[in-house]
Amino acid sequence: NSTSSDALKISDHPRRAMAAEYLTHKGVLFPGVDYSPETLSYLENEFQVRDDDVFNVTYPKSGTNWMLEILSLIRCEGDPGWVRSVLNWDRAPWIETQTGLEAALKYPSPRLLTSHLPVQLFPRSWQHSKAKVIYTLRCPKDVLVSLYHFSHFMQIFKVPSSMDSFLEDFLSGNVLYSSWFDHVTGWMGLKGNENFFFITYEELQQDPGGSVRRICRFLGKELSEEQVASVVENASFQSMKGNQMSNFSQIPDTYMDHEKGELLRKGKPRMGTTYQDSEILAELREGGCVLGLRVTGTGMEGG
Ligand code: A3P
Repeated sequence: NSTSSDALKISDHPRRAMAAEYLTHKGVLFPGVDYSPETLSYLENEFQVRDDDVFNVTYPKSGTNWMLEILSLIRCEGDPGWVRSVLNWDRAPWIETQTGLEAALKYPSPRLLTSHLPVQLFPRSWQHSKAKVIYTLRCPKDVLVSLYHFSHFMQIFKVPSSMDSFLEDFLSGNVLYSSWFDHVTGWMGLKGNENFFFITYEELQQDPGGSVRRICRFLGKELSEEQVASVVENASFQSMKGNQMSNFSQIPDTYMDHEKGELLRKGKPRMGTTYQDSEILAELREGGCVLGLRVTGTGMEGG
């Protein structure tokens, strides 16, 4: 199961002291480091998806690493050996980064891969494959707050000048990976596709065991109750926070200022949200008003 031996480490990649710059590819914003139009075009048009690939897809800050942990543990029938010994970005490389793409191309089947790509830029070869996509969606209010904090210590992100201006940027899609609304609406268009599974961060929190069992059914994996319980336990907020392979503590300082924050920040829905897809779609039609936060002094910084 391990891919750590041949996958490129993030620290192997040449870095520079970063003043965050973004690149725009087909109208979508990407970090300026470790991403390139050539890689993104290659992924969309030439990357060969394999039938036994499993993709973990999200808009940033929606529970990507949590799902990555769950899928890693399901793969190992609940045995935590892999998640405790191999870095998460080696277990499921981010395909749209240069580093991640190189790792994906060397990854022996069956691959576990991660992506934040919007559906229109996702590898086209997926459409003619049996590969499975798991899309995790999170309440946009919590995505906004999580992204706001993350942007302060992830060096490849621009630092927001204030929550108010960041909210405007988020609503207009002027953030990395652009519009949350477009991302979610695009991927939700695949609901009903037998190779597409959709779940919310909030469902994972409300019913972790049931969520893991549903994911297993989608993947065709049969786990015992003990194994499901082990997946839940080892992918819990506390377990991940204490696991150096999963908590981003191994990311070099040039990428992440570890003194300013950490990936596993709060891990709670701020508003006690229980999001069902029908509600999301109904609210999506309201566009930017879905956030209901167009007021100053929301106290979001403390969220
Ligand atoms: P907060 O910043 O709200 O705490 P991503 O992995 O997509 O970058 O998302 C990061 C968010 O998921 C962070 O949210 C983080 O705390 C939360 N998260 C990560 N692992 C989690 C877990 N096991 N349980 C609950 N939330 C988790």
